[in-house]
Amino acid sequence: MAPQEPPARPELTVVDGAREPGPERASRRTDAGPDSLPAAMVLFLSGPNLSLLGQRQPEIYGRDTLADHISTATAAATEHGLVLEHIQSDYEGALVEAVHDARGRALAIVVNPGALTHYSWSLHDALAAFDGPVVELHLSQPRRREAWRHQSVVTPVATGVIAGFGGEGYRLAVEAVAALLRSGRHGH
Ligand code: DQA
Repeated sequence: MAPQEPPARPELTVVDGAREPGPERASRRTDAGPDSLPAAMVLFLSGPNLSLLGQRQPEIYGRDTLADHISTATAAATEHGLVLEHIQSDYEGALVEAVHDARGRALAIVVNPGALTHYSWSLHDALAAFDGPVVELHLSQPRRREAWRHQSVVTPVATGVIAGFGGEGYRLAVEAVAALLRSGRHGH
């Protein structure tokens, strides 16, 4: 029987494999053989009240639901050979645990922390311990809103911030992640 062609590798895991393979990165390496190719996974995290998108203050957040936004992001991720996982929670600890669980599993995190943006130091610390690009995402532009929204405790540990583009931001966030993974650049 003719030897089988190895399946095409997801473009971005090849980039990842070229980076320093620390112990927790080992599970993401691509040289383990075709049967154990890991998915190039990007974790999307949505914080409190984002499950109400579509109904919640549509004049600010629009009429699209969170599921609409995640499906936009999933389509963009697929174009880049990335698999998207999404977790929404109204609980700070659940989001912190999701970030822990992403260590060594996700190549990047996109997070819309909702109001946790402005005060969650535990989310800040969890993201600081994540070894990969972190994109902070907002539908609205918090700096144009109430003063208490002007501070983000997530920004200091984010590679970059996308804010004010409405639902389009979900596609832009995936583009940003894909570009960051390709360049290998993601300093906190
Ligand atoms: C938000 C902005 C936050 O200030 C707010 O608390 C949210 C949504 C946004 O996507 O614009 O819940 O993160």
